[in-house]
Amino acid sequence: MDSHSYTYYAGAWLVTVVLTLIAIRLRRARNLNSPPGPKPWPVIGNLNLIGSHPHRSIHDLSQKYGEIMQLKFGSQNVVVGSSVEMAKVFIKTQDAKFACRPKTAAGKYTTYNYSNIAWAPYGPYWRQARKMCVMELFSAERLESYEYIREEETNSLLKSISKSAGEAIPLKDLLSTVSLNVISRMVLGKRYLDVSEDSVVSPDEFKKMLDELFLLNGVFNIGDSIPWIDFLDLQGYVKRMKAVSKKFDLFLEHVLDEHNERRTAEGEKFVAKDMVDLLLQLADDPDLDVKLERHGVKGFTQDLLAGGTESSAVTVEWAIAEILKKPEIFQKATEELDRVIGKNRWVQEKDMPNLPYIEAIAKETMRLHPVAPMLVPRRARVDCKVAGYDILEGTRVLVSVWSIGRDPKIWNKPEQFWPERFIGKEIDVKGHDFELLPFGAGRRMCPGYSLGYKVIESTLANLLHGFKWKLPGSMTRDDLNMEENFGLSTPKKFPLQTVAEPRLPPHMYNF
Ligand code: HEM
Repeated sequence: MDSHSYTYYAGAWLVTVVLTLIAIRLRRARNLNSPPGPKPWPVIGNLNLIGSHPHRSIHDLSQKYGEIMQLKFGSQNVVVGSSVEMAKVFIKTQDAKFACRPKTAAGKYTTYNYSNIAWAPYGPYWRQARKMCVMELFSAERLESYEYIREEETNSLLKSISKSAGEAIPLKDLLSTVSLNVISRMVLGKRYLDVSEDSVVSPDEFKKMLDELFLLNGVFNIGDSIPWIDFLDLQGYVKRMKAVSKKFDLFLEHVLDEHNERRTAEGEKFVAKDMVDLLLQLADDPDLDVKLERHGVKGFTQDLLAGGTESSAVTVEWAIAEILKKPEIFQKATEELDRVIGKNRWVQEKDMPNLPYIEAIAKETMRLHPVAPMLVPRRARVDCKVAGYDILEGTRVLVSVWSIGRDPKIWNKPEQFWPERFIGKEIDVKGHDFELLPFGAGRRMCPGYSLGYKVIESTLANLLHGFKWKLPGSMTRDDLNMEENFGLSTPKKFPLQTVAEPRLPPHMYNF
């Protein structure tokens, strides 16, 4: 056979294979029983229906199409579960099939090519990371051993608020400083971000970096849904991802170098003091199932810093904003605090079981303002059936805890902020009660939930115990804007400015 014939036969063979594959796909698509959903447009799919607050657009669509619906983001199938029953299927009964994360530009560019925990694909690397979280990083003993850090940092927050008594303060800013200090002392061994000569980033710059990281990890990047226009980076997000990741890398390199220097200097006598020490030790362990490389240690460290800082600050800011709208809640909370704690001491973590009303405020805040309103996206690992519908491998799966928290079949007057609904109820946030899933559930549930919840509860309790909260100047509660921003977390769009006045005897503020 001459070379022309070869080319001819190879070409014909290729065309036949391609046509057969297309035919199989079309036949399969025709026979599929896909979940209901709006008809997609060519190229963009249903992206035209997603507004600047995607969780709200998706909630509205689910009211029309039901508790399980299918959307198309560009060419990508997206299935949304928005009821307790559907959440149970996706992240409990069939959890293993949906325990992967989609590949996104954020995972690629901001987390060392999916080397962190949150975006790592389901598999041995991620499983090993979770084991490290359970056994080492977030074990009950370790969290307890860091309680003194949480207490010291809460005290410094209370001190700085008392110093600004009567003035308008930017609450979220102060809250994220506390959580950043708590988490950086636990993870990095010190307040890495105190302004000092050798600091590589200033605290303000670092907070901006975290805000940017959270935003970019939550945005809908069009290139993820329509891969062939990815290179255009139409929204400019990929450029921003690369820029923020570069800044984080500079900081993390510095952190790892410092930690390694101490290890080398102390030799045999070295004892791990913080989570980075532990991670570096694990990275040296020859018995690990999967090698933990330097970029993996950096990815995990970034996860811990980001996960631990933003979420609790966002939640406490929402709680105070809701209470400013309803002063009767403040009244009830302080009655409980005065009865259980008294006016001559601050609240400690161990007091929380005796403060059911404060706990109810925290839960009610997380019901109405979940930090991640659709959790972190998951990805179907195999073709499967849910509620009789076909879900194809690779489908992106969202669980709308935003919708579940507003479901009138579960909650009486769901739009109202009413902590009393939790009093006397056994509804927890630990991923067992599917009505309230602020930390998710199943294999991918937040590994830091216990730490996050402790920080939220005790910060909130002490803020309410120590201060009367007011709006600045002539602002009324009706003026208080309760809109949110959408990203990986959902903070208030307009940061809360508020005025605090001491509520306890003066000696309590001498820290
Ligand atoms: C108020 C506090 C917090 C909230 C509301 C929160 C919420 C969440 C949610 C909703 C998820 C996704 C769960 C899912 O996909 O089903 C998640 C995952 C995660 N969170 Fe948190 N979180 C908080 C605190 C923390 C803390 C303190 C850390 C670490 C220091 C942390 C680290 C992580 C990590 C690493 C993941 C990814 C887990 C995985 O994919 O396997 N979070 N968090």
